[in-house]
Amino acid sequence: MVQNIIIDTDPGQDDAVAILLALASPELNVLGITAVAGNVPLDLTSKNARIVCELAGRTDIPVYAGCDRPMARDLVTAEHVHGKTGLDGAELPDPTMRLQDAHAVDFLIETLRTEPPGSVTLCPLGPLTNIGTALRRAPDIADRIARIVLMGGGYFEVGNITPAAEFNIFVDPEAAQLVFRAGVPLTVLPLDCTHKALTTRARNDAFRAAGRIGEVVAGWTGFFERFDMEKYGSEGAPLHDPCVISWLLAPDLFQGREINVEIEVESPLTRGMSVADWWRVTDRAPNALFIGHVDAEGFFQMLTERLGRL
Ligand code: RIB
Ligand code: CA
Repeated sequence: MVQNIIIDTDPGQDDAVAILLALASPELNVLGITAVAGNVPLDLTSKNARIVCELAGRTDIPVYAGCDRPMARDLVTAEHVHGKTGLDGAELPDPTMRLQDAHAVDFLIETLRTEPPGSVTLCPLGPLTNIGTALRRAPDIADRIARIVLMGGGYFEVGNITPAAEFNIFVDPEAAQLVFRAGVPLTVLPLDCTHKALTTRARNDAFRAAGRIGEVVAGWTGFFERFDMEKYGSEGAPLHDPCVISWLLAPDLFQGREINVEIEVESPLTRGMSVADWWRVTDRAPNALFIGHVDAEGFFQMLTERLGRL
């Protein structure tokens, strides 16, 4: 059965690969893409989302601009990872397709109120500002969301932007707390999973062999892998956001457990920490399927094959 999804995103090279994977997969019907400020400011994330749609030949996909700053914090961006455009590593033309007039939050609320209950899955790939704002403005939508499948957080791999927090959650912890407490079925792809989805020379070569789109993807990963290689000594770039789409397509590639996850919003030292009760040492009720492992070979095989279809 085809799954209706909305991708909420802050492209970002890894977001871009996730969008391409979704657009290459007939199992998924992308109802729209909502851009949020994150890796780079909103004007760039909303531009980059359209660049990716045009790269895939999908100018039919409506792209909406959302929130340009977190709910209660100043914006923190990540040009040091993604470059000043957010899509450094490949030269692509400016988009010709226009942004939709509606605000992304209005699109989210309207779509969830119009589509049959339980028929739309949300796929946030960046800070959760748009999703949190929609839930706060229209609490009635929570019961109508099939599932939220997001990239964010970490447990064993605690943080990448601070010692305690992963970037998406760190940027807007208040929004994340709203999402994790909304009672919506939740799948979390944290750093514990995404740091196992690492590019390698061979995997980048396989992207290049997949054709025009694969060449672009290899250019992007070749750019943004340097941050993780220098920081972690890893062999390549972690493809964080494509893990979200891949979980929808092939959940058997992933392993996790239903646990409680709370978000730290008080302490400046641990702001945005995802406090994951992996060992169930509290009596807090499970609220998320927290993914700890991915079959990296299977993930890259599927991703590469799908990119070759575009
Ligand atoms: O921490 C990784 C996450 O932050 C990814 O979604 C990446 O695109 C950035 O948004
Ligand atoms: Ca992202």
